[in-house]
Amino acid sequence: MSIKIENGNFILETENTSYAFTLYGGNYPVHLYYGAKNDCAALKLERIYKSFSPYMEEHGMDFSFDCAPLEFPAYGYGDFRTTALKVRGEQNSVTSLVYVGHDIINGREFPADLPYAESSDDCETLILHLKDEFAALAVDLFYTVYPAEDVITRFFRIENAGSADVKVERAMSLTLDIRELKDADYVSLRGVYAHERYFQREHLGYGNHSIYSRRGSSSHHHNPFMAIVDHAATEDEGAVYGVNLIYSGSFLTEAEKDPNGLIRLQTGLGEEQFGYTLKKGESLDTPEAILTFSCEGLNGMSRNFHRFIRRYILPAEKFDDRPVVLNTWEASYFDIDEDNLLTFAQSAAENGLDMLVMDDGWFGRRDDDTSSLGDWYEHKTKFPSGLANFIDKVKSKGVKFGIWIEPEMINPDSELYRAHPEWAMSIPGRSRLLSRHQMVLDMANPAVVDYLIDRFDKTLGALNIDYIKWDMNRNISPAVSPYLPADKQDETLFRYMKGVYRLFRWFNESFPNVMIENCSGGGGRYDLGMAKYSTQIWTSDHTDPMERIPIQHGSTYAYPTAMMSCHVSNARDLTTDPRHLDFAFRLAVNGPLGYELHLPNMPDDVKATIAAQVKSYRGWEDTILRGDFYRVHNPQLTPYYSYYFVSADESHILVTFLQYKGEEPREEVMRILADENATYVDELTGREYSGASLRSGLVMKITEKDYTYYQYSLRRK
Ligand code: DGJ
Repeated sequence: MSIKIENGNFILETENTSYAFTLYGGNYPVHLYYGAKNDCAALKLERIYKSFSPYMEEHGMDFSFDCAPLEFPAYGYGDFRTTALKVRGEQNSVTSLVYVGHDIINGREFPADLPYAESSDDCETLILHLKDEFAALAVDLFYTVYPAEDVITRFFRIENAGSADVKVERAMSLTLDIRELKDADYVSLRGVYAHERYFQREHLGYGNHSIYSRRGSSSHHHNPFMAIVDHAATEDEGAVYGVNLIYSGSFLTEAEKDPNGLIRLQTGLGEEQFGYTLKKGESLDTPEAILTFSCEGLNGMSRNFHRFIRRYILPAEKFDDRPVVLNTWEASYFDIDEDNLLTFAQSAAENGLDMLVMDDGWFGRRDDDTSSLGDWYEHKTKFPSGLANFIDKVKSKGVKFGIWIEPEMINPDSELYRAHPEWAMSIPGRSRLLSRHQMVLDMANPAVVDYLIDRFDKTLGALNIDYIKWDMNRNISPAVSPYLPADKQDETLFRYMKGVYRLFRWFNESFPNVMIENCSGGGGRYDLGMAKYSTQIWTSDHTDPMERIPIQHGSTYAYPTAMMSCHVSNARDLTTDPRHLDFAFRLAVNGPLGYELHLPNMPDDVKATIAAQVKSYRGWEDTILRGDFYRVHNPQLTPYYSYYFVSADESHILVTFLQYKGEEPREEVMRILADENATYVDELTGREYSGASLRSGLVMKITEKDYTYYQYSLRRK
């Protein structure tokens, strides 16, 4: 049993953590504890009261919503901090929810029409039923406990239990009031296009610290993930709380250190880009948030997230091996046709790559990025004998075939726009806001999603494809749906995402053997909502190793390497200096491998090296996709990025040390948490290492040269 009630305390337990709350006065859910496993039965609510904090007359100064750690703080009734819920009712926006009952179920419930974590054999769910009689609201809080992964997920359902309309104006899926840390930092992932998810660790001072997206997608700029970290914690030691949201649209993640030093962590839809009207009897489910705690520093938190996401969010593998792709984009851009693509397919097959991915340029009159988004049928001059016929030829070379699409977008210069200008998001009379010459389809309109389903069913349903790259190349503004009435415009972005998820579900159901790689101008939607439907996500459009290193490093804090699509490209001319190809490969085996270069035109020695790289990757793939991951050196603080993987059965350790910038020669130690009693053989050199010597550290020689690397593939003897 991972959920129990003792001495009036609700206790949620995982293998290594405990979470507890109680009901103040039998009514109000008040948080007691979250951290390392603990006996929570005896925990009692401490009296916390400060001047200027309102208290309920009948309870006196024993308790104030403004000071107590709360499970679900609502707006307007004594709590001056940031809240989880604000609802505009018939009279006012004041909400105060009291406990009316609970259920504990085996397994779990799921938020409607949204992505979620799958059920596990051992998960249990606590459903806490709350009610506000004055505001006529019923709220259910869902807590699902995944014991083996040390993860608890949260979302809530709100129902209008009255007769007048109400409007939900702020909805945060998860609130965690952290009492255990006095001096903390917060970790988040920041970025811009082509520089996504840089690691950022800041001291958590008093006040509010928010990360957010108002772009209609989770964005290149911030990511919904946040960690609250003991100020003294390191990668391997110390207390760390991590949250993330299974959602891909605009979001808000906030950490507030209140005047009394209590830390409130929240993630959800926020308020600025969200509003939702509920009529009598209608309800709304929020996106699901995931929460973990680890005493083993940031690496411990990441490993909990990695295991959980791999097991319960990412789709099952579609093939025995993850295909090593040859993507045409950086090699040919829009300049593709049947003949040149067949030479790509041929050289992919000859050099051991598994799949040709035709990236953009294959539809409508798409010869550059100014036209044709929306016209999802083959480009007649590039494929005169038809796409189906062309794909058969690709397959006859012995490789799989992948195709690029960008379903949510429309170019003003397209047949679709000429037929349906009202399907593009815009405001009549105002200048159209373009980005990459394109507009956004109104995915909040069910007719648009229906059209896309029909169109792709006809076009892709007739093709023998193995893979789809689903792109999204702009952010959404104005966030106005021509379909929705004026009083529902605040629902646009939430409904947009639900439309997108419906289309994803249709793709996955209609093409069960086709793998989806997600992309949004690189990593603009690198989030758990997309991870639910996509085996992997294109990490970034930056493929130059020097710039790519911090992107991959940062991504590993919140996301498993199994979803981090890594390509070797020709960004640093691979033909002039062999170090570039070696280094790019060593960096790319941080996740599923691919190539994005003009393979047919590469000299023979480069092709031979690539063929050998693919072979090495195959031997390591299981460790890279399913092993445990340990960061060692942070490339934003040192001129090197180092990490290692340990395979699930602990028989293989893959160590990578990448020095991207030359420095004064010296030695650097890289400690590996190997089995002390084991001996390992490096399959690259044949040298033997004892587990004890690996624990004391491998010595890396820092050189004056850029692009130096050390890699060890250690097999247990
Ligand atoms: C942006 C993506 O990130 C690229 O990889 C490529 O697919 C282009 N779009 C194609 O237009």
